[in-house]
Amino acid sequence: MAGFNLTPAEYQRLSEYIYLKTGIRFASGKEYYVATRVEKRMQALGLDSFNRYFSFIRFSPSEEEMELLINSLTVNETYFFREYNQLRCFAEEIISLLTEKLNGGRLKVWSAGCSSGEEPYTLAIILLEMLAGTGLSFEVHGTDINTSVLLKAKRGYYDERSVKDVPGDYLQKYFSKNGAAYRVLPQVKEHMRFYPLNLKDASAMEAMEGFHVIFCRNVLIYFDEQSRREAALSFYRSLMTGGFIFLGHSESMSRITNLFKPRRFKEAIIYQK
Ligand SMILES: C[S@@+](CC[C@H](N)C(=O)[O-])C[C@H]1O[C@@H](n2cnc3c(N)ncnc32)[C@H](O)[C@@H]1O
Repeated sequence: MAGFNLTPAEYQRLSEYIYLKTGIRFASGKEYYVATRVEKRMQALGLDSFNRYFSFIRFSPSEEEMELLINSLTVNETYFFREYNQLRCFAEEIISLLTEKLNGGRLKVWSAGCSSGEEPYTLAIILLEMLAGTGLSFEVHGTDINTSVLLKAKRGYYDERSVKDVPGDYLQKYFSKNGAAYRVLPQVKEHMRFYPLNLKDASAMEAMEGFHVIFCRNVLIYFDEQSRREAALSFYRSLMTGGFIFLGHSESMSRITNLFKPRRFKEAIIYQK
């Protein structure tokens, strides 16, 4: 299949279908990126025409092939303690605002589009530090559409590059070194819940409720406006009144919806229900 290409019509059909399923918009300019992934999947299945592959995805009784194609298409770049200023704001301002009213309860935090787990583990480490001695408990949910990165998240083994921004004392306290890998310790893992969730799946999103904080950073940038609005509305429903949502530092909720109140803190703008 040397020089495999999708015709403009094939690309259009496939990208429209991917958009419907995931909210991810592959616009023009991404043809080569998509075609190389499709080619790999076709080779794995021994199929030699795009039409047969597309029919297979559309009409096979299982969702397995669509899952594998999506796994190969998503961008999963992430690392521990990414966008430190926002995390400092979470640690030093948001947690205390929320716990004032928690009355001995449990803080529920969600990393939506968590990739291989670095973001939700980071949040758990911060919560362990900030809630120590308060008697308050917490849980961190990590969800993603990509089932293969979630397996990595559940395992909790990372390389040097992923942990490069972890402060030295936290690396000592919350990881053990196994050869070249850094393993997240059980005292962090016991707070985690990892499971697949597609932000485009309205009924799955309805089940997500009672969260005090949502992090959805560097995910909605891959969506178009309509899907961003739908996701924002779902997040609004998932949050407790007074809860906060963090987007990536280059993303703005005000451009998506005016449902949330923008709150300006020392180091970041965070959106509140
Ligand atoms: C660039 S990573 C961001 C990881 C992390 N939030 C961070 O900022 O470091 C984007 C993640 O969004 C996930 N994603 C994309 N579309 C999604 C959807 N419809 N539902 C759930 N997750 C999705 C991808 O699989 C990917 O793991």
